[in-house]
Amino acid sequence: MSTMEPKQRLEGLSEKIFLDRYAWKDADSNNAKVGDVVLVLTKDDPKFPTKEVGEIVERTGRIVTVKTRSGELVKSDVEKLTLNIEKTPEEMWDRLATAMASVEKTPQLQQEWTGKFRSILDDWKLVPGGRIAAGAGASEELTLFNCYVVPSPKDSRGGIMQTLSEMTEIMARGGGVGINLSSLRPRRAIVRGVNGSSSGSVSWGGLFSYTTGLIEQGGSRRGALMLMINDWHPDVVDFITVKQTMGQVTNANLSVCVSNSFMKAVKEDLDWELVFPDTTDPDYDEIWDGDLDKWKADGRAVIPYRTVKARDVWKTIIESAWKSAEPGVVFMEYYNQMSNSWYFNPIICTNPCGEQGLPGWGVCNLSAVNLSKFYDEKNHDVDWSDLARTTRYSVRFLDNVIDKTPYHFPENEANQKKERRVGLGTMGLAELMIKLNIRYGSPESLEFLDKLYGFMAREAYLASAEIAGEKGSFQAFDTEKYLLSGFMKNITETYPEVGEAIREHGMRNVTVITQAPTGSTGTMVGTSTGIEPYFAFKYYRQSRLGYDEQFVPIAQQWLEANPGQELPEYFVTSMDLSAKDHIRAQAAIQRWVDSSISKTANCPADFTVEETAELYEMAFDLGCKGVTIYRDGSRDVQVLDTKKKE
Ligand code: CDP
Repeated sequence: MSTMEPKQRLEGLSEKIFLDRYAWKDADSNNAKVGDVVLVLTKDDPKFPTKEVGEIVERTGRIVTVKTRSGELVKSDVEKLTLNIEKTPEEMWDRLATAMASVEKTPQLQQEWTGKFRSILDDWKLVPGGRIAAGAGASEELTLFNCYVVPSPKDSRGGIMQTLSEMTEIMARGGGVGINLSSLRPRRAIVRGVNGSSSGSVSWGGLFSYTTGLIEQGGSRRGALMLMINDWHPDVVDFITVKQTMGQVTNANLSVCVSNSFMKAVKEDLDWELVFPDTTDPDYDEIWDGDLDKWKADGRAVIPYRTVKARDVWKTIIESAWKSAEPGVVFMEYYNQMSNSWYFNPIICTNPCGEQGLPGWGVCNLSAVNLSKFYDEKNHDVDWSDLARTTRYSVRFLDNVIDKTPYHFPENEANQKKERRVGLGTMGLAELMIKLNIRYGSPESLEFLDKLYGFMAREAYLASAEIAGEKGSFQAFDTEKYLLSGFMKNITETYPEVGEAIREHGMRNVTVITQAPTGSTGTMVGTSTGIEPYFAFKYYRQSRLGYDEQFVPIAQQWLEANPGQELPEYFVTSMDLSAKDHIRAQAAIQRWVDSSISKTANCPADFTVEETAELYEMAFDLGCKGVTIYRDGSRDVQVLDTKKKE
């Protein structure tokens, strides 16, 4: 355990993110006293309540005066305060280690694993996903899962309202939600009974998106929604272009699910049929759930709506992504060929940031190994043995989350116990590579990524097999079928010991690895997020006096050690890299990821539509499961700006 003063530990981290989002544990606010750090309601709007961090400066009876961070004095009843009883990362690590070890069977095991989990949480080596950090051991209400996919809505008013209600309940507890809209009949299709026609799948998507904007998650952030549609759906073009109609869909990420046959039709310039099931089929209401292959395999009728050129649909996707960074694309048929749950649970959609494909009612919990902490200075290498140990303990940590989290819907619990899906990822990759003097995107870096992520996948799989030996496999585990997935064939070819361990012990988790963006958690601990390179080494922070020039810590350290020199070439930013470099890095890592990856390929402002098409096709050919691009300047407001404002 650390010997440093707690206060020092917060340096280099974003204390604001830490305090605002994670360091809250319900304590009796009746005991609030002067000097306590609290969350206070500054705007009591029932739809958008706003809370701020502040310090109590006065208490008279039940009324306190709180000085907020922005300097405002706010009066509040003590009852309305949230009391902060956790002010340092150490306190958080203790809470998380104890909470996750509490599901172990015996007091002895609980003690052993509290110590082991605490040792990997220490110094932010394993950074738990935001939901785990905020909820575990602190709340009986909040979910510890980042990711949810609800079943595609039943194609009726009642069915849509049902999905809306499921989405709302999940988001209110802190989960991000994905919905595939392909089960909804297309625009202008006849609706029996009301003598009218449907407003279409995309307009219902607008309803889900609008509602998402109204929901605040776990008191600290807005809801997050992913909407998807399949390439065969007659509304696919409306879906692709919907964001160009102002105001219709503003609170959702959009992605199109693309099949292998669609990609083939694009390559060979073939016709493409947009179809939908025959809604007059007597069993339609009962059985239609958006799975067209299953519908057809049952011998049921499909109505052709329109024949288009595959290339025209593809071009619309590409042009829109080029213009506004959306929609993303998920190669869903390929995803399912690689998927370990191929034989019992088809993947239908992903979570909001795209890294986690899930079946209907599927959930997943995420955490990231902070790679920047695994640099072995003495040998100028990765600290492989510590990385192996951390990876193995992390898998057990995530597996325990499944038993610790509260479940609101029994369907989520039943599904998760059937598959025990977890997603261990990484953050700080770019920082580690700088320490090793490897330039992100170089041929050398691709070899390094293959070795690093192959190593972690091997350790993670061996750990999950070992836990299966001790606690049992996930319910739907079937050795022969499991080992036949695209991913398993690949990993066991390179690491036969993984296949042997699975045959001997079984497997605890259907999937083990997911590369999430780690947007808030990576920023909180002060390293590069996810698998991304740094966006910039120098940036400007707004202050009262104008704009202050700042360097990210690793660049700052280098510049201090080498005065008067320019940063060397291995300090590479996302804009220094070509879009193809980004995709090559993504593909190298995807090879070792059984779920998916959140990654943005940055392109220069003058990147053309043709280059965009070429990039997407390259991503498919290299085995990526999805693509997201961001062309410099293509959105009105850029969140990060490396240029100084006048
Ligand atoms: O850093 P943190 O663990 O908070 O989250 P992340 O890695 O940036 O995002 C992981 C997943 O959390 C996303 O794909 C979403 O499913 C979910 N999320 C959400 O529900 N709401 C947000 N505002 C951000 C993320």
